[in-house]
Amino acid sequence: MALRLSLLQLSAVAVLVFFSLLLNGGESATAPDACVSDDHHNTLAESFPNNATGVLNATLAIIPIPLETARRLIPPQYGILERAYRALVPNFPEGMYPVMVQAAHDHDVQFRAYGITIDDFTRVGFEFPFLDLTGDRYSSFRWAPAQLISATNGIALEGSRAYGTFVSPAEFEPLCDAYRRLSKDTTYFRGSSLTSSEFVELEMRRLPHSASDPYPLELLKNITNQPTFANATSCDNMIRLFNTTMSVGEHAPASVRGRVRARVFPFGGVEQEWTDVYGVQVATPFIENNYLDCRTMRGYSGTAGPGDSYMHGGNSNDEL
Ligand SMILES: *[C@@H]1O[C@H](CO)[C@@H](O)[C@H](O)[C@H]1NC(C)=O
Ligand SMILES: *[C@@H]1O[C@H](CO)[C@@H](O)[C@H](O)[C@H]1NC(C)=O
Ligand SMILES: *[C@@H]1O[C@H](CO)[C@@H](O)[C@H](O)[C@H]1NC(C)=O
Ligand SMILES: *[C@@H]1O[C@H](CO)[C@@H](O)[C@H](O)[C@H]1NC(C)=O
Ligand SMILES: *[C@@H]1O[C@H](CO)[C@@H](O)[C@H](O)[C@H]1NC(C)=O
Repeated sequence: MALRLSLLQLSAVAVLVFFSLLLNGGESATAPDACVSDDHHNTLAESFPNNATGVLNATLAIIPIPLETARRLIPPQYGILERAYRALVPNFPEGMYPVMVQAAHDHDVQFRAYGITIDDFTRVGFEFPFLDLTGDRYSSFRWAPAQLISATNGIALEGSRAYGTFVSPAEFEPLCDAYRRLSKDTTYFRGSSLTSSEFVELEMRRLPHSASDPYPLELLKNITNQPTFANATSCDNMIRLFNTTMSVGEHAPASVRGRVRARVFPFGGVEQEWTDVYGVQVATPFIENNYLDCRTMRGYSGTAGPGDSYMHGGNSNDEL
């Protein structure tokens, strides 16, 4: 088991190094501009130098769609674990399934022990959580079949394609932050493909009280800690911590409500619009274990542990 993990780890490093070289060799003509992000720096790199770590500053929103539609969009071999999401949100509308739209800025990504850093990038996509990938009727996995990713970041584009993701190089507004503030309480985000007519646009308004948010934060913590897959050749186990200094106090998750417009896979070539969409805006540090064999995660129940105080005490890897 230990040998197996270290081999997997090695290959993830090899992939990162390979793409770093690729990028450095091929992209000197389009030197990255001086894009300065508002994002908090990566607070986990120091404690986890042997892991890929970074910061995701994101808008995470839930779009309820009819279970029948979900069943039509999600490949038939993956069961939908309705009981799992009802355990978290018992009053989720009858006959509906929660799709998550994630619009995020990836910041300060590092593999510190190897001296690898990756330029910031933005990405957006629709993610289908609570899927029974391994057939154990218990572990929830998340299908993320398509992403729009910053066209300037070759590592991110190729790193996502390696999962079998349908990746569209895209440009984003804003350029190097998670969203733009239109006024004190409204925010804007748009990603537009450079190679197709695909786009995703979010306009959100902060709610004065999180009490009017119909979903508990637990739902989004749970979903964002489910291993992700695209064509199921391999799984991405990203562990997101919601209780570090980055997501408390003045940076506590902000409940938002708004409008999402998109023309993107797997919703087909027609523009869709959803109004009255609820979600949160939150920045979290993460540890990412790339290109794992999905079957090794059978029985996985995730982490979403209580936070950095939890991480630093004792044997943190065992706790996770
Ligand atoms: C860090 O990477 C090692 C080796 O791949 C892995 O065993 C460990 O679980 C990772 N740590 C976390 C917190 O995911
Ligand atoms: C997340 O992004 C927003 C918009 O750029 C910024 O105002 C906020 O400070 C960021 N949060 C963190 C913790 O980095
Ligand atoms: C996610 O929710 C399910 C119940 O639906 C639970 O079994 C699982 O442990 C939760 N995972 C996390 C990371 O909280
Ligand atoms: C999944 O995608 C990867 C990367 O493109 C590819 O190597 C692999 O053959 C694909 N697997 C399937 C089952 O389509
Ligand atoms: C963060 O975790 C600590 C202990 O680990 C706990 O005392 C505190 O209530 C948590 N804060 C939040 C906002 O969950």
